Amino acid sequence: MYYPDNIIEDVRNGNDIVEVISSYVSLQQKGGRYFGLCPFHKERTPSFSVSSDEQLYHCFGCNASGNVYGFIMQIENYDFVDAVKFLADRINYVLPEKGDGGVSAKNAEIRNTIYEIHKKAARFFYSKLNEPEGEKAVKYLDDRKILSSARKKYGLGYAPYNRNCLSDYLIKEGYDEEILVKSGLVFFNKNGGCYDKFFNRLMFPIIDVQGRIIAFGGRIIGEGEPKYLNSPDTPIFKKSQNLYSINFARKSDVKEFILVEGYMDVISLYQAGFHNVVAALGTAFNNEHARALRKYAGSVILLFDSDEAGTKAALKAGPVLRESGIRVKVARVMDAKDPDEFIKKFGKAAFSELLSQAKGYTLFQIECERKKYNFDSTEERIMFTNRVSEILAEFDNDIERDAYASETARLTGISKEAILSQISRASRNIVIKDSHKKYNKSKTNTSIRGVDDGKQNLIKIMASNQNAYRKIREVLSPEEFINPTYIKLVEIIDDFYKKGQSLYSAEIVNYFDSVEEQRVVSNIFITQKEFDDIKVLEKAVNDEVKAIKIFYLNNVLMPSSQDIETLQKFITEKKSIDNLNIRLLDG
Ligand code: UTP
Ligand code: MN
Repeated sequence: MYYPDNIIEDVRNGNDIVEVISSYVSLQQKGGRYFGLCPFHKERTPSFSVSSDEQLYHCFGCNASGNVYGFIMQIENYDFVDAVKFLADRINYVLPEKGDGGVSAKNAEIRNTIYEIHKKAARFFYSKLNEPEGEKAVKYLDDRKILSSARKKYGLGYAPYNRNCLSDYLIKEGYDEEILVKSGLVFFNKNGGCYDKFFNRLMFPIIDVQGRIIAFGGRIIGEGEPKYLNSPDTPIFKKSQNLYSINFARKSDVKEFILVEGYMDVISLYQAGFHNVVAALGTAFNNEHARALRKYAGSVILLFDSDEAGTKAALKAGPVLRESGIRVKVARVMDAKDPDEFIKKFGKAAFSELLSQAKGYTLFQIECERKKYNFDSTEERIMFTNRVSEILAEFDNDIERDAYASETARLTGISKEAILSQISRASRNIVIKDSHKKYNKSKTNTSIRGVDDGKQNLIKIMASNQNAYRKIREVLSPEEFINPTYIKLVEIIDDFYKKGQSLYSAEIVNYFDSVEEQRVVSNIFITQKEFDDIKVLEKAVNDEVKAIKIFYLNNVLMPSSQDIETLQKFITEKKSIDNLNIRLLDG
């Protein structure tokens, strides 16, 4: 969790869900609920409902569901933390900063001032483009064919030659030296002289997801070193966490993002109509970047420079993205050093074509490996095949595995059967790390869907009936729910009861970061049935607990190859599940 639970609850409580949603959807009251047209799917008759008591919303048409955070995340396309910030802002609630331990109004003020300074600095640089001293920069932009619409969109500017220009201006605007230094835009030397960090450079404002200017990159005009100078880390900027142009890309309808290396690539593609482009800011792509991307993109096309460094960077970025659950493809620019040069040389259609030819990361990886071996030598072909088997062993899609094995067979002349058996040998060495992965892959299976519904039903019972909860937990452990969201939910319910707190469904939803998880969780609370008759409840509890345990036994506990001994164990286990009898009425 990024903020303490009590703060998240404070902010949620301060934002009445009916009020918040009313500013997006026109709602009509009917009984205890409010109805309106769902903002998340097209409809003519209202099936979107908001419950003031539960502080949850639910659409009976498209199944969208959640608390006030979920709503803001979905409608503003924010992640959880940004939704907290947004709603805190709405009620003028000051959030604590990381590592600060408590709410610090002073820090918030410093940060606000630094934001303000950046805004003023960006305006200052921008205006310099239109003054005589900015002529050089304008000419450079012209030469590089950056359209005036793109200059405006990206707020490009010019930091003049004079090394006191910006600092003089900001001091005149009333900022003291201390805050200017904190902003990273100004520094003092030993003699107490005050200097601008950026001078005689083309300026690229760096903007966060919320649309605030948080830093600058400055390019030398023409040739020279260093080519780019970037803002240092400051209270409002962490270089390793931000992506250039994420503020625009997040609004793109295309959820497959293009990841490029340079500022110029981004702008050049944007002005050609590709808005789903981002770049890391001169640092290697890391998992913080991936986390930021995952909020908005389901898959990414890596489109790095055509030099060796670009290939290396793509090989490194692929696994980072994949580990975050983002699908990765790789596209290559031909006869150009980078995407910027490519699109200017060959145009938009050629660029689209290049994107459509992007291949899966694994194939790219295999092709890179291939270049390392001399295929005239049998030995090297075997080495290559072994290496490919290792790569494919980590891969858990049988169809793709098979396709790559065919491709490798074709390349090496080694039989596909031999390759496949080498792959399965290699994969046996990789212990199946968690059963969750396996489970998620077979989710569409109908019998699982039945069990899934049962799990949801049981969780709702556990959350609303402490007696039933105790009885169920005596025989059922969280792991047996298999699905990570359910496991977490059961553990949260455990926590609440342990602390003797009452359970509010809208509060529990807070504990989940992604809109998808929040949707699942609030769906459980809204759509699962309630039981009035204890007999009926008891039967439901028994049926569902058994179904969950049997499923767990079949799919997780039991290995696929079974000897007599494990079979025996299975039968005993199965019998004890059949004999389970949870009694809700006595003791
Ligand atoms: P490039 O050198 O490819 O830059 O570096 P570019 O954006 O394509 O610029 P042009 O087209 O040559 O003008 C890629 C990125 O690496 C970072 C910058 O973020 C740059 O956009 N970089 C590069 C630096 O931070 N410092 C440098 O000195 C060079
Ligand atoms: Mn480049």
